This record gives sequence, C-alpha cells and structure tokens, in this order.
Amino acid sequence: MSKKSIKDIDLKSKRVLIRADFNVPIDKETGEVSDDTRIRAALPTINHIIDSGGRVILTSHLGRPKGEPDPKYSLRPVAKVLEDLLGRNVAFVEDCVGEGARRVIEAMQDGDVVLLENVRFHAEETKNDRGFAKELASLADIHVNDAFGTAHRAHASNVGVAEFLPSVAGFLMEKEIKMLGKAVHDPEHPYVVILGGAKVSDKIGVITNLLEKADKILIGGAMMFTFLKALGKPIGDSLAEDDKIELSKEIMAEAEKKSVELVLPVDTIIAKEIASGVEKKTVSVDEGIPQGWKGLDIGPETLKLFVSKLEGARTVVWNGPMGVFEIDDFAVGTKKIAQAIAALKDSTTIIGGGDSVAAINKFNLADRVSHVSTGGGASLEMLEGKELPGIASLISEEAGKKNDD
Ligand code: 3PG
Repeated sequence: MSKKSIKDIDLKSKRVLIRADFNVPIDKETGEVSDDTRIRAALPTINHIIDSGGRVILTSHLGRPKGEPDPKYSLRPVAKVLEDLLGRNVAFVEDCVGEGARRVIEAMQDGDVVLLENVRFHAEETKNDRGFAKELASLADIHVNDAFGTAHRAHASNVGVAEFLPSVAGFLMEKEIKMLGKAVHDPEHPYVVILGGAKVSDKIGVITNLLEKADKILIGGAMMFTFLKALGKPIGDSLAEDDKIELSKEIMAEAEKKSVELVLPVDTIIAKEIASGVEKKTVSVDEGIPQGWKGLDIGPETLKLFVSKLEGARTVVWNGPMGVFEIDDFAVGTKKIAQAIAALKDSTTIIGGGDSVAAINKFNLADRVSHVSTGGGASLEMLEGKELPGIASLISEEAGKKNDD
C-alpha cells in the first residue's frame, strides 16, 4: 500500500493536525491513564514534527461519550502523560473546535504541542459531519493520521478532514499498514495463523480470509469448543456457539479443500468454575469433558503440537488468547504460545490486536516479536482483508491520488 507518509512532506512552521488514537484505559479511582501503550506509540510521529520545526495539534477520541462533554472521557489525563513522555509542555484545550482552540493555535510557535479535548464530545464526529470536519481542518495546514486503532471508523477527525487537508500517514500508521498489510497480501511462507478468544463468530471474517493465504491455522481459546462439538466430541459445560456448528464444519471442509492444515487442540485443562485455585484436570478431547466441567485452557499435548507447527514458520499472526489467561491457573497455554512465538528466529511475528496484545504485554514479550498492533477492531478488519476507511482516505504516494492500494 503506497500511502504518502509524514517523512515525505515539509513540516517547517506548519500547523499539523494529528489524529492519534489515545483511547486509553483510565483508572476509575485515580482518574489517571492506566496503560500508556497507545500514547507511547504516537511519540515517533510527534517527535518528528517537533524536530522538523512543525507545530503539533493533537486530536483523539477517548471512550464512547454520547456526543457531548462528559468529564469521565476527558483527554486531560493524556496531556499529563504526554508532558512526561515528551519532556515538554503540552497545552490542553477544552474544546477541539471554536474560538478557544483557534486562539491557542494562532499563538503557537514552531515545536509547540497542543492537545485538543475529545473529538467525540461533538456528535458530528462519529457522523463524519462535513461541516465539523471542515472546522477541524481549518485549524491546520496538514493532517497526519496516526490513529490506526480508529482506522475502521469513518469519522470526521480521521476521514472527513481528508477532504479539506492533505492527509498523510504517521509513523505508527505506516508501520501497521506495512506489517498487517504484508500478512494479508504478501506473507512469506510457511505462514502460520494462531486464533483464539471466546467466539468463532468474532473470527469468521479472519478465518475465511486467511484460509486463502495461510498454510496452517491453529485454533485455541473457547472457540475451539464450537469446532470440537461440530466433530461430535463431548465438551461438557464449555462455552460453545451452537448456531456456529454448521459454519465450523464448513470451515473445516474448506480448509481441507484448500490444503490448509486446520489444527485443533488434542487436550484441554478443565475446571468446574472460572476462578483461581479451583480443582482442575487435564483431559484429552477424545475422552471428552464431563458435564459440570468446562475447558479453560489448552492442554500440554496441544502445546507440544502447536509449538511443533510453528517450527520453521516465516510469518506468524496471533490473534486471541488460548485460555482464560487473566487467571494464572489457566494462563499456561497462552503464556507458552507467546514464548514460542517470541523464540522464533527468521520469522515475522505479528500480534494482531486485542487480548493477545494484553497477553504479550503481561508476559513481557512485546519487544521480542516483530509487531504488536495497537488496533483491536481495526486489526481484525485488516486481517479480514477489508479496506479500512482511515487508510483509504490517505493520499497515495503519487500525490493527489487517493484510494490506491
Ligand atoms: C479501539 O479502541 O478499538 C479504537 O480506539 C476504536 O474505538 P471505538 O470502538 O469506540 O470506535
């Protein structure tokens, strides 16, 4: 995907409207940012603009306010974190449009940084209202879209503004497009995809698309039980989607037709309830899970099997945990898979958003993989092979031309 990037343009004394994704968790008690990963991910773009003598005007959403100001969703705590990370003053403006914002921006000097309040405090943002987009755009000379996490939304601050300002990719957006784009369009083989998480229904699009590209798809997490049930295995009280049994059969048949190895667990860790310290057992899937028990992690034989399937992989994409990794008793499968991915040599390893990102962070392995996506829904849609509006609206490398991949 040849999209124009921030490094291709002159930023000196330019007012640069950055759309970042600062949709970060806020601690309810302290009101402070509890995970700054997404803020750190935007730093290369911000620092590049500062170093190039540009003026940084940051916009973002946080949470899902109802189109009006709501202090719970204020970006003010983000300004504080940014000041610490950048080591410079960040002026916070209480409305993203209007006279206040205009006055602060007019007074900016080269290298100054301003953070505007949550764009979703205006209902026009999520409606991609043209007038609102124009108003935002009027604050700046250039639009830099670094909000990969929001790229699956066609909203005013990421997509609408591109009608009024040249919109180029920030470094984070560029990296996400490069890494996930390669996994979707041009992966090196052998290509192994590991999918987990609770529901088959959440991953249908990803499975269907990657069945066209992957050599092996390994399935863990609670979604495995829908597949196992489809094969007639007793799954006890495990989570399964009965209305997706037929679909699971179709997916297995399709994989066989396409010579994609679809690998299901051979054993599972079971317990009567999802809690710490409860009695647990390992059972083979053929033996089955008794009534009153549920599968909460993949078992040791499955781990051996999955790790052997990863050997020699040149591309690995992982989306979704293998079990209830938030509870240590059921975290072994997810942890060992994370370690196996991190140990791979000569392989592009991509952690495709959501809970698997939380898992790789929990096990401190994020810096041992090629790419940890900052997108949840956005990475899923990318892996589904969809064109994301927040990427389509970026200028292509041949300036002036849009929507070219
Ligand atoms: C996310 O966290 O996935 C993005 O910031 C998008 O948020 P949204 O689902 O509220 O649009």
